[in-house]
Amino acid sequence: MDGENKKSWFSESSGVMCAVESPADQTPELISLRPERLDEYIGQKDAVETLQIAIEAALARNEALDHTLFHGPPGLGKTTLAHIIANELGSRLTVTSGPALEKGGDLLGLLTHLEEKDVLFVDEIHRLPKTVEELLYPAMEDFAVDFIFDKGMHARSHRYRLKNFVLVGATTRVGLLSAPLRDRFGIFRNLDFYEEPDLIKIARRSALLLNVEMDNEGALELARRSRGTPRIVNRLLKRVRDYAQVRSHGRIDKKTVSESLALEGVDEIGLTNQDRRYLETIINFYGGGPVGIEAIAATIQEESDTLVDVVEPFLLKIGFLMRTSSGRKASEAAYKHLGIAYKGQVGLL
Ligand SMILES: Nc1ncnc2c1ncn2[C@@H]1O[C@H](COP(=O)(O)OP(=O)(O)OP(=O)(O)O)[C@@H](O)[C@H]1O
Ligand SMILES: [Mg+2]
Repeated sequence: MDGENKKSWFSESSGVMCAVESPADQTPELISLRPERLDEYIGQKDAVETLQIAIEAALARNEALDHTLFHGPPGLGKTTLAHIIANELGSRLTVTSGPALEKGGDLLGLLTHLEEKDVLFVDEIHRLPKTVEELLYPAMEDFAVDFIFDKGMHARSHRYRLKNFVLVGATTRVGLLSAPLRDRFGIFRNLDFYEEPDLIKIARRSALLLNVEMDNEGALELARRSRGTPRIVNRLLKRVRDYAQVRSHGRIDKKTVSESLALEGVDEIGLTNQDRRYLETIINFYGGGPVGIEAIAATIQEESDTLVDVVEPFLLKIGFLMRTSSGRKASEAAYKHLGIAYKGQVGLL
């Protein structure tokens, strides 16, 4: 069953042109852990219900689903939902991403090959070049694209009809999407970090699929250290599985999780070395802030985009970080967690 799923997933995506996916999405082990249907999808209740209703209604009316946008931090299930939508609709899926569509022609090639109700998934849609994005407007709204022939006086335009396809977009930076593009999505869902009970379910499901034994306390400990993110649950589970296999007869319990993840630099609440370095920089170099993101990025020699996309969302969520108009500030809770004495915010108020 698992093997079959894997095969069908590969044939789907290898059959498409311009299929560019992030390496994490192409890892075969991860693919087998990816839920394939909506009822296997754990958590994100509101988003799942919205999709269930929209998909059922579209199928009953025999129409294409409304264009759908998912936004939220990495690893929360945006790509997974795009695959699930295609599965639930019984449609073909074509996968591409914003940076892969460099020229208008790249997008036209994809659009003109789509069949009725096909799903076109555009990952990192905020990185579409402007010229390509403008081509997408009439394609989304009127299912048509305008070709311009010749230039100047002899310019002629020809409207080419497209099949009624479904665009599914995903982005970690919804703020960077232009208003015209955002407004053309009928379904617009934010994916938030997962709560502990859902992370436990995901850990248990993945352990079952990977055929590894894990007790309740082990699952809870893994959930607590996964930064509210299914991709991290799966990644850490594999590290813990290796550790358990070598050090404790393959069985995962609380002790194996905490010991193996301590080796990975993941602490009791899931913060990584990178998270701690980020907070310590604000506290030790900049007196707790406020400090601009570029200054932090330069100090720890990290891309500011990585900090904004990957590091900050979870620190904001757990209240360790505050974003103010004058910059980033570490909260008292962050000091406490790092064991640094809090002297109040110097130079403020
Ligand atoms: N609701 C879920 N239930 C079970 N597993 C999940 C769920 N959501 C995501 N996963 C797992 O987490 C992994 C990461 O999810 P996915 O690739 O969909 O994230 P993403 O939001 O597209 O991330 P990125 O922004 O980095 O592309 C998947 O391979 C899947 O195994
Ligand atoms: Mg993705």
